[in-house]
Amino acid sequence: MSAAPLEVRHALGSYPVYVEPGLVGRLGALAARHLPGRRLALITDTGVAPRFREWRSGAADALELAAELVVPAGEGSKTRATWARLSDALLERGFGRDSAVIAVGGGMVGDLAGFVAATYLRGIPYLQVPTTLLAMLDASVGGKTAVDTPHGKNLIGAFHPPVAVAADPRALLTLPDREFRSGLAEAVKHGLVASREYFAWLAGSADAILARDEATLAELVRESVRIKAAVVAEDEREAGRRAILNAGHTVGHALEHASRYGLAHGEAVALGLVAECRLAEALGLAREGVAREVARLLERFGLPTRLPAPLPREEVLAAMAHDKKRRAAGLRLALPTGLGAMAPGEGWTVAASEADLVRALDSLG
Ligand SMILES: NC(=O)c1ccc[n+]([C@@H]2O[C@H](COP(=O)([O-])OP(=O)(O)OC[C@H]3O[C@@H](n4cnc5c(N)ncnc54)[C@H](O)[C@@H]3O)[C@@H](O)[C@H]2O)c1
Ligand SMILES: [Zn+2]
Repeated sequence: MSAAPLEVRHALGSYPVYVEPGLVGRLGALAARHLPGRRLALITDTGVAPRFREWRSGAADALELAAELVVPAGEGSKTRATWARLSDALLERGFGRDSAVIAVGGGMVGDLAGFVAATYLRGIPYLQVPTTLLAMLDASVGGKTAVDTPHGKNLIGAFHPPVAVAADPRALLTLPDREFRSGLAEAVKHGLVASREYFAWLAGSADAILARDEATLAELVRESVRIKAAVVAEDEREAGRRAILNAGHTVGHALEHASRYGLAHGEAVALGLVAECRLAEALGLAREGVAREVARLLERFGLPTRLPAPLPREEVLAAMAHDKKRRAAGLRLALPTGLGAMAPGEGWTVAASEADLVRALDSLG
């Protein structure tokens, strides 16, 4: 199978996103096409490195790597300290302006290695090979790279789109169940914010998705990438439309924070989607039943729609007020009007009172 790649547009041009089972075995050809003649540095993490070797064993082509840099798996590696170590490793090995990075891993590696590429000698190209569902359908679109700081996540970074993205759904076979389900929350979000058809397809394909059928996963990743890329592109013409991608995340980020990251990102987003849909119903924006349909699909994917343990309400509300997308005029959220449609509001966000928010949060049990 060799489907035409999707094109993701950005301010300075566009890049292709290839989504094909077995693609990791053909990375040599992709690197030759998109990074011809360059010295290549692989950046990956300890969770992916051994698997990458397996995926590449019996590969159809050669991939010549001048350096293999492996960082410890986990968000704890997404720091300026690791960025400095990686950059120094490239300098020590004499990598010049004719070099390039291949980032193989989840969103952590993508953001970190992308930021190394963005800043190394004022910027060298990189090829992104996402290996988690989240990285394939979310982090590989938009060109954002970053590291975390003690003041917050993703606060130091740059826009630096990859030259291409190569997503191999076969790589998802080894992904731990919780990581896999976490990524599905973003797919549900994509259906909710932009496509009733996609939402229905997700519901109808749930068995094949959960069985990780590679052709079904390829279709899922393609559709999610198409939706996110379209929203990001429309943002340039329709100021602020990108805010709809924040659906489920205003409440979700606050829950993630208040749970001290005991909730995985996707689990918190699932809860956030349910609470925000209920809020949209209470405000009369969405018809009754939207929250129920969203909750049903999330549950089908094994995601939580009720809090596993109560969280202090004050802390959740305080965390929400710190959401960087918050407007000065009070709390504003991107809210749905129905499956596949978001309220235009003002800049695609709608104001909600604290009392309304409290009711929506309390509904999570
Ligand atoms: N740039 C963006 O637009 C954007 C968007 C969303 C999220 N992010 C970032 O993405 C990060 C989270 O990414 P993530 O959820 O992919 O987590 P992650 O990159 O930390 O990966 C999760 C774990 O899965 C392991 N893993 C990766 N691929 C595997 C595979 N195929 N098989 C088995 N194990 C595998 C990793 O080693 C790691 O232990 C956060 O830092 C977040 O800020 C960025
Ligand atoms: Zn998210």
